[in-house]
Amino acid sequence: MTHAPDPADDHWSAVAQDWADLWGTFTDPARRALLAATGTGPGTRLLDVGCGTGELLALAASAGAAVSGADASPGMVDRARAAAPGADVRVAPAEALPWPDGSVDVVTFVNVLALTDDHEAALAEAVRVLRPGGLLAVCGWAERETNDLAVVHAALAADDGEPVDPDEPEDPWHEEAPVRGVLTDAGLTVEHVEVVEVPWAVRDVDAVVRGVLLGEDAAGVAERGPVVRAAAEPFRAPDGGYRFRVAARLLVARTPAR
Ligand SMILES: C[S@@+](CC[C@H](N)C(=O)[O-])C[C@H]1O[C@@H](n2cnc3c(N)ncnc32)[C@H](O)[C@@H]1O
Repeated sequence: MTHAPDPADDHWSAVAQDWADLWGTFTDPARRALLAATGTGPGTRLLDVGCGTGELLALAASAGAAVSGADASPGMVDRARAAAPGADVRVAPAEALPWPDGSVDVVTFVNVLALTDDHEAALAEAVRVLRPGGLLAVCGWAERETNDLAVVHAALAADDGEPVDPDEPEDPWHEEAPVRGVLTDAGLTVEHVEVVEVPWAVRDVDAVVRGVLLGEDAAGVAERGPVVRAAAEPFRAPDGGYRFRVAARLLVARTPAR
């Protein structure tokens, strides 16, 4: 099985600038927690997989780390290179990383692992490129009751005619136990778990609509924008901006010392 990026699947390049503008920095509190929990500092060799527009690369570089990034989307990679000029950023899928065995100290996935086609292959690649005793950090959104944006997504689903199920099961990627499970299955030992508040603060309702409907065409935004506006209303701040409570969960796990 090959894992060469398929240009037809690259919807991220078209939204790279909007991603950077609207979502780029919002997980910074979790990124800082990740750098602290992994002890990233001068000389740490850190590889960020699914590096997006490069915000973690820039933070790690400013902490003195030697940083590399991989992302399947050429448009995201262009912006990551601009955000972290000293970093070695490559267009590459998580499932086939072009780095040698044992060549990095820390591998990170921030809001990425759940998006991969084959998370087992992605984790196997992370373990391969890590040195013995290296650290893998996985960060993603926590359960929906910690995430105000779930209200907006529920309104969109209802508008689409999807049945409302009050007992809808949680997405396993948003729970601690399943993520722990995939890390353990990959041969890693979880050493640290932390939930970090990452509020999404947006300047006005137009930006809320652009952010939530990222990647939709003009017709989709015209049709669904009013639903987003109405659902966002409870989250309007006194200054006219919008503030959504969101929590991210960080797990840090270690590879065997060999
Ligand atoms: C939600 S964004 C997160 C970007 C960044 N990690 C952040 O936290 O801002 C997901 C990113 O993962 C990348 N991605 C998704 N699947 C991937 C895969 N299998 N291999 C490499 N990159 C992938 C996308 O191109 C996109 O840049």
